Amino acid sequence: MLVLGVESSCDETSVAIVKDGKEVLANVVLSQIDIHKKFGGVVPEVASRHHTYQVAVVFEEAFQKANVKYEDIDLVAVTKGPGLIGSLLVGVNAAKTFALVFNKPIIGVHHLAGHIYANAIEHEMNFPAIALLVSGGNTELIYMPEHFKFEILGETHDDAVGESYDKVARVVGLPYPGGPAVDKLAHEGKVTYHLPKPYVDAYNFSFSGLKSAVINLHHNLEQRHEEINVPDLCASFQDSVTEVLVNKTFKAANELKVKQIIVAGGVSANKGLKERFHNENKYGFDICIPSIKYCTDNAAMIAVAGYYQWQKHPVSDNLEMNADASLELESL
Ligand code: KG4
Repeated sequence: MLVLGVESSCDETSVAIVKDGKEVLANVVLSQIDIHKKFGGVVPEVASRHHTYQVAVVFEEAFQKANVKYEDIDLVAVTKGPGLIGSLLVGVNAAKTFALVFNKPIIGVHHLAGHIYANAIEHEMNFPAIALLVSGGNTELIYMPEHFKFEILGETHDDAVGESYDKVARVVGLPYPGGPAVDKLAHEGKVTYHLPKPYVDAYNFSFSGLKSAVINLHHNLEQRHEEINVPDLCASFQDSVTEVLVNKTFKAANELKVKQIIVAGGVSANKGLKERFHNENKYGFDICIPSIKYCTDNAAMIAVAGYYQWQKHPVSDNLEMNADASLELESL
């Protein structure tokens, strides 16, 4: 089964063609990072304009790379939400147009389901599973008893973990997106600054206090003209973040007796997080983390999620299906 995936929820325009939920024939990703860098974050109106300029080119390139004809596609899977509404609308309308012209079934896919199913490209998924979803907009622990069934165990009360990485990076003078830059410097530094470890209730998270602690510490040192060791500050911040994420995930995995731990979303690219999961895996859980190219936003993950969603519920949406900026991760 050939699935065409389309993703445009934030600042990446991406089109992919994936065979049988596994074989990625093409995964073209056009990132707008360089455009948004100068603003220190994604500017929604600028993002949707660039999706509009690029989407047809990205479609064309994906078909050339995959070397398949438009007619060969069996299913169109498009990110329906959540995300920036102007950005989502570009991908959804391009996908609907394709489905209408070539008379193909189309389904709207949840962006976070896409991040989770990025893992199915390189691993076998094994249920029940716990998914730790860590991105620029979300931090959630999700229980999956089977394919395409999502039960949210906990989420952040305030900042998403990626968002706090981006804010900390900005304060210490690192470029957007901050996550990769903080991660790199953290590996050059030592855990020397005393920062809070935000353990809030049960499986929930909170990162705004930790972020504020870093910002306050930085400002206080600056005001006292004391030297700030940025690599050490990054290492200390990353240590607090990864300790909480890893401990809560292992706790949930033990209590719910899962067979697999899935780590997903842009922050799953974090080297410190990967190392900690592997070093502290004393119960021998099967831990899946996608390779870097599938961690951040891409359409291959949407095509794969669409493939599994279709196995469970093989019904095409009608062409009135629309983008939904605050779509909930519901069970089918
Ligand atoms: O999943 P994603 O591509 O976009 C959505 O939010 O949906 O995630 C982007 C986030 C950004 O906040 C970025 O700073 C963070 O993922 N990120 C990282 C790393 N690479 C990307 N955070 C920490 N360490 C990284 N290596």
